[in-house]
Amino acid sequence: MKEKLEALRHKYNLLGQDMEAYLEGLLYSRSLTYWDYIELETLLTLQKPRTDFPDEVIFIVYHQITELYFKLVKVELDLLLQESWEDESILRKRLKRVASYFRHLTHSFEIMMHGMDTENFLRFRTALLPASGFQSVQFREIELYLTGLRQLLAPHRRNVKGDTIEELYENIYWKFGNLDRRTGDKTLTLRLFEQRYDNHLLELARRLSDKNVNARLEAKLRQGQLSEKLIEVCREVDVRINIHWRLVHLRTASHYLRQEDEALPSTGGTNWPEYLPPYNQNIQFFPLLWSSEEKAQWGRGSFLDQYLQEVEGYWRMSKATA
Ligand code: HEM
Repeated sequence: MKEKLEALRHKYNLLGQDMEAYLEGLLYSRSLTYWDYIELETLLTLQKPRTDFPDEVIFIVYHQITELYFKLVKVELDLLLQESWEDESILRKRLKRVASYFRHLTHSFEIMMHGMDTENFLRFRTALLPASGFQSVQFREIELYLTGLRQLLAPHRRNVKGDTIEELYENIYWKFGNLDRRTGDKTLTLRLFEQRYDNHLLELARRLSDKNVNARLEAKLRQGQLSEKLIEVCREVDVRINIHWRLVHLRTASHYLRQEDEALPSTGGTNWPEYLPPYNQNIQFFPLLWSSEEKAQWGRGSFLDQYLQEVEGYWRMSKATA
């Protein structure tokens, strides 16, 4: 006890503070409770359905869960920016966490795909127009943390001449995903997102242009310092986000929005059967880590088999135990 008091006195001396005043404060402060610490009561007020369909709350909660996981991904990526890359084990630890968050998100997407009544969904979603997960700014931020704008260009803009951040940003893939099918103009969903977040995302792209994970990996590769273990975890991040997560999301969209041969319009208004498939977007965060055959097979063939084994195997298992 005496030693602890001395250590405390030392700590407060360094801060120019009076330890005894802090000790007195301890006498009066309330005990910490679980519900205050995690803000449970506030958290449970954050679901505000816009209709009376009971399944709408599932839709809101699962989006919120995903956004919280996205936040955890950003915590890791932000720490990476501040840490030295000399110690490769730290880098691998952070990227493994990113991969594991997306693995969880891919598996738990079952809540979306099988957890809501289609009837309910098709009705309550009309009250949500023109909002769409397309407007998730955290998803766009994660992309920019992981790679440069050049890797995020729309497939038909990959040879674009422009070199400035602004020119590249205007050719990013999602800006072409959300155009009105008849007029080719930007949809309201896209325009609202741009008004709110373009400046923020441009600023982030500028800040990360030579610090994003891919830029750093390429520098390491040029210096011949990229280990097999690091390559493996980077490839896993690419597959988990750009194939597995995108595929499970696409399958969910198809489950609800495809009726016989017809694709129903989405709330965000994209031509989603064309836009969403990973094999059409063909995005790799770390392109130098893939062969041209692997890029040509992106989201198909063996990748798809692996996805089906992992995700569908998981669903079969959970159905069997249900
Ligand atoms: C029933 C569930 C879902 C359906 C039917 C669905 C449908 C769609 C559709 C059709 C799009 C294309 C944009 C549009 O036209 O609106 C889209 C984009 C997107 N959604 Fe979802 N979605 C669902 C759940 C989710 C969830 C839970 C998240 C988690 C945050 C999410 C995140 C996204 C993201 C990030 C995009 C942009 C993808 C990209 O640009 O490649 N979606 N969604």
